[in-house]
Amino acid sequence: MTEASNSQAPADPEFYRSLPKAELHLHIEGSLTAERMLALAERNGVTLPYAAVEDVEAAYQFDDLQSFLDLYYQGMSVLQTESDFYCLTMDYLEVCRREGIVHCEIGFDPQGHTERGIPFATVVSGITRAQDDAHAQWGQSSALIMNILRHLPVTDAFDAVEQARPYAARISAIGLDSSEVGFPPEPFAPVFSAARELGWHCVAHAGEEGPPAYVWGAIVDLAVDRIDHGIRSDEDDALMDLLIKRQMPLTVCPLSNVRLRAVPTMAKHNLMKMLQAGANVCVNSDDPTYFGGFLCDNFAAVARDLPMTINDAAQLARNSIRSSFLTDSQQQPILSNIDRWLEAQR
Ligand code: HPA
Ligand code: ZN
Repeated sequence: MTEASNSQAPADPEFYRSLPKAELHLHIEGSLTAERMLALAERNGVTLPYAAVEDVEAAYQFDDLQSFLDLYYQGMSVLQTESDFYCLTMDYLEVCRREGIVHCEIGFDPQGHTERGIPFATVVSGITRAQDDAHAQWGQSSALIMNILRHLPVTDAFDAVEQARPYAARISAIGLDSSEVGFPPEPFAPVFSAARELGWHCVAHAGEEGPPAYVWGAIVDLAVDRIDHGIRSDEDDALMDLLIKRQMPLTVCPLSNVRLRAVPTMAKHNLMKMLQAGANVCVNSDDPTYFGGFLCDNFAAVARDLPMTINDAAQLARNSIRSSFLTDSQQQPILSNIDRWLEAQR
């Protein structure tokens, strides 16, 4: 290892653009920019409580997950046509291109749209058309994760899986999101079994605000391949041992955790402690336009307040690739490019 790779990584988002990495925890509705939201509101005749971009940004002050979700669902109301979902997704895929996100696994919340009368087909065709165009235009690799809103009944989750059946080949995984505390994962076990029968991977948000018991529930009852967030896992030693032994991926979202007050400050975030302990953590942006930064901003924010060497940054990027749904042969060239990036940092 070179000396330079042991030095503190820079708190400059630009530095991380050339680092090849994957983003595995991204809600496409949470990547809606204020500009796009206002434009779509006007086009679709939706009334929002904001007149200008500055009003939107000023409103994004959160006390907890629920206070964010309230605005997140309100923001979604501007998304109505296939073209709206196309533009939303293309905006994010352009970010991937700019930020060196060589592969992304995009979450979407179909129930947030079908509940408002938007057909499932409208949502999926807009998103997948953007994925196809980005792939054709610059080789962007991406996958799709259908998230289930856990605050709604299990029967609604089954309906969502049924509606997804015709598009099953375009969806790689089922996920579980929305309000966590009071909505443990176990009741969704039969839904996850049905998804597994469709050949999908399984992921779930757990241990963001909820207790370690929810992480256990996601692992034992939902048999997930990854945990989204999982930051409260370190309150339970036996759980941490299991996560490390199994190398269970934790898709951590540093700026999100600070903005939703899941952690008091970035300096107190446990990301680097978990990495040093051998946990398979990676960095993600969650809802970037709501939480003040895309993926490179998250890396920079970590570097600003936590001990993160350049070598650690490369390890976080390797973890993101190794934890993705890409096959080994798809992962290998990217992992080699991460090694090359690290070599170039001398
Ligand atoms: N947690 C739970 N649900 C969500 C989130 C999150 O961070 N973002 C969008 N839906
Ligand atoms: Zn999330």
